[in-house]
Amino acid sequence: MEQIVTYLSAEQIAERVKALGAEIHRDYEDKRLVVVIVLKGSFVFAADLIRAVDTHNLRVDFLGVRSYDGTESSGVVQIVNDLSRPIEHEDVLLVEDIVDTGLTISYLLDLLQTRKPRSLKVCALLHKPARAKIAVPIDYLGFTIEDRFVIGYGLDFAEKYRNLPFLGVLQRAQ
Ligand code: IMP
Repeated sequence: MEQIVTYLSAEQIAERVKALGAEIHRDYEDKRLVVVIVLKGSFVFAADLIRAVDTHNLRVDFLGVRSYDGTESSGVVQIVNDLSRPIEHEDVLLVEDIVDTGLTISYLLDLLQTRKPRSLKVCALLHKPARAKIAVPIDYLGFTIEDRFVIGYGLDFAEKYRNLPFLGVLQRAQ
């Protein structure tokens, strides 16, 4: 039997997301922002984040990637759904759920740079520095976490648990 233990509560997440939204609002106040949401894991975080950014000058787009099998990074990033529009000359904010090895975000940054955005920044809800294989710049970060596999708030284990309203860890019940 497995048990889900709360790692970060819905309230803790909401408070941090609100602060991130305010920071992003300050930095992009006089710009037109393109928020690129990395699917699937970021969709819950991004939905809350964009509603915390108080501007009308914002559009969203989605990038579907697959980089994981179970809990281990394969190191191979596959684009399963590309952006719907060009981002040339745009101010782009890439929204990721978690930076673990860093391989996914690093691949995506290289890919998006080839499309010549005016600026390209990263917002990640979580960062697990203990597992980093490559250094990546995170301009807006929610939480730095220990080396635990977390689920919920959009993050899955084998496609399950994305709908949990908080971040949890799986533990074997005694
Ligand atoms: P990276 O390429 O190793 O940085 O992995 C990034 C992707 O792996 C994330 O976007 C997640 O989809 C997935 N991932 C990494 N760690 C976790 C975790 O603790 N829980 C759920 N998914 C994770």
